[in-house]
Amino acid sequence: MSNFLQLMHPWIHHREKMLLAIGFWLLVAVLVLWALLDPFSRVSRALWEVLVPIINPVPVDLKSKFGEWAVVTGSTDGIGKAYARELASRGINLILISRTLERLEKTREEILSVNNQIQVKIITADFSKGQQVFKGIECELKDVPIGILVNNVGKQYSYPMVVGDVPEDELWDIINVNVGASTLMTRLVIPGMKKRGKGAIVNVSSGSELQPLPLMTVYAATKVYLKSFSEALRAEYEEFGITIQHLTPLFVNTKMNAFSDRLQVSSAFVPDATTYARSAVETLGKIDTSTGYWAHGIQNIFTLIPPVWMRTKIGKFMNETFRDDYFKQKTI
Ligand SMILES: NC(=O)c1ccc[n+]([C@@H]2O[C@H](COP(=O)([O-])OP(=O)(O)OC[C@H]3O[C@@H](n4cnc5c(N)ncnc54)[C@H](OP(=O)(O)O)[C@@H]3O)[C@@H](O)[C@H]2O)c1
Repeated sequence: MSNFLQLMHPWIHHREKMLLAIGFWLLVAVLVLWALLDPFSRVSRALWEVLVPIINPVPVDLKSKFGEWAVVTGSTDGIGKAYARELASRGINLILISRTLERLEKTREEILSVNNQIQVKIITADFSKGQQVFKGIECELKDVPIGILVNNVGKQYSYPMVVGDVPEDELWDIINVNVGASTLMTRLVIPGMKKRGKGAIVNVSSGSELQPLPLMTVYAATKVYLKSFSEALRAEYEEFGITIQHLTPLFVNTKMNAFSDRLQVSSAFVPDATTYARSAVETLGKIDTSTGYWAHGIQNIFTLIPPVWMRTKIGKFMNETFRDDYFKQKTI
């Protein structure tokens, strides 16, 4: 027997070594596949978002698909105003919500000059005030069959800074406006949509949800909330014929980015609000998650290639340069 074991010993040793080597190379193969497939699936999803409007250019009839009325929050400026104008041109009646009555009245006039066949109602509300504002809005929306809710209102830092430097009120407003308003506005309109078996909720999030974003930490975190909120809401309500769109613009030339004059110049990658909104409305009813604009979709594809830790570092660097812009602008 001992002779037999002695005879087998080099073979057993060799077999263990072989098994170890096979195990090692299998592990390497799995890691390489994972490293390749993860960005591959993220990038192919981003590519799909760009391709859908090209493959399917026929406009969706928003009025018959979702309903005759739309509510747009934060609609006296920037993306919200441009989005409302675009809906008006498609014959949809509007309810505009913002803080300032004069600006709302002016926006209503402008929109009626685009299409005077529609009805435009206005509601003044400051979403930074929290829960109390929704009672008033609920009364105003009672009996109006809302087909589309555009949760557009959003607040950004006045300029990029670390969390400890952001004034307490500003942080609280960002959370109330970006998270609270979208959540409670949705809760107000979604039972009616469910009853009618149709409707759309557009949550205007941001490309800043793609990874943590130092120096805009809380703003980006509120947009991650909107992503999760949108995806779970879709799972809850799509069976009732309700579309939930998570819209993730990158930079758009609006006053929100006034901290850097580089972002106040329109270009292919930083479109003006009208160009952006026209394209974003075009995606509604066609795709549930989208940047809303082809050039942002292309930027997304490249953004999603590096791993999250690297994107976080790049984001920090980018915001440091915007912060420098802000201080340079201030001294001029
Ligand atoms: N611009 C970008 O580069 C960019 C990029 C990604 C995502 N987004 C998102 O897109 C959305 C719109 O951004 P924007 O750039 O168009 O903003 P904006 O130009 O600053 O316009 C904001 C609108 O919201 C209203 N508003 C502000 N605070 C409010 C409050 N507390 N209560 C009620 N209304 C309020 C403003 O009107 P009043 O002042 O009259 O109230 C205005 O009509 C936001 O959710 C933002 O996070 C923007």
